[in-house]
Amino acid sequence: MRPERAVILVTGGSRGIGAATAQALAADGWAVALTYRTNSDAAAQVVSLIEAEGGAAAALMLDVTDPDSADAVLEQASKALDGPVLGLINNAGVRADDLAVSLDDDAWDSVLETNLTGAFRLTRSALRGMIRARYGRVVNIASVVGPRANAGQANYAAAKAGLIGFTKTAAVEVARRGVTINAVAPGFVRTDMTDGVLDDAVLAAIPARRAGEPQEVAACVSFLASDAAAYVTGSTLFVDGGMSA
Ligand SMILES: NC(=O)c1ccc[n+]([C@@H]2O[C@H](COP(=O)([O-])OP(=O)(O)OC[C@H]3O[C@@H](n4cnc5c(N)ncnc54)[C@H](OP(=O)(O)O)[C@@H]3O)[C@@H](O)[C@H]2O)c1
Repeated sequence: MRPERAVILVTGGSRGIGAATAQALAADGWAVALTYRTNSDAAAQVVSLIEAEGGAAAALMLDVTDPDSADAVLEQASKALDGPVLGLINNAGVRADDLAVSLDDDAWDSVLETNLTGAFRLTRSALRGMIRARYGRVVNIASVVGPRANAGQANYAAAKAGLIGFTKTAAVEVARRGVTINAVAPGFVRTDMTDGVLDDAVLAAIPARRAGEPQEVAACVSFLASDAAAYVTGSTLFVDGGMSA
């Protein structure tokens, strides 16, 4: 059972999937620390929405590419919400698309640092407290891209496939400690990240013939973070309208 006053950290909680996930987890009874990199106003608005529903939330600044940020943000989250951090949603992500033949080192490094290395560092730091508590929930937001090819996204695909591999191995390392680590792999979801991408050709290639909504991803994260999912670990849940089928 989730201990009382448990805090969950949602990276990139200011917008899109992260904002919807922060709200869903608060409704589930988690105290939610949501992070933003630049968008403090948007993050404050998500906190207000959660508080208006009777939930507990705090907004914290975090750049997941800063190697020294992981321990500090976990400590800030615990202090701000007065509880142990026993949940982590690695959601912060970026894309910088180009064909592999012309992809430059900056586009490769920034996408790998944000989407993969950032998630690794935070998970490493958070696991220490979770193992001590013998309770923890980590959910990594991967993508259908990685398991599936998508021309123009070799860096993003490498990061997300890496995140799924990391999820599986880290999960088996901590499974007997009451800590689960899973991935959620969305297809095309209507957020700023897909602004200008969701044209008729893209939608026609999705078996469900529509994009997903951030709340549909949040519902899956909510399940994996719940006590009901205690026996689910190392798995990847695709939320993609059938794209990976
Ligand atoms: N949308 C899709 O179709 C889709 C599909 C598959 C997977 N995903 C994955 O789902 C996750 C969320 O995507 P989204 O569509 O909701 O994206 P989004 O609307 O572009 O939001 C991205 C979030 O990540 C934060 N962020 C970006 N760089 C960061 C950094 N270096 N450190 C900390 N935070 C950072 C942003 O903070 P600021 O607001 O402060 O900039 C923002 O909160 C990502 O991992 C993405 O790869 C999305």
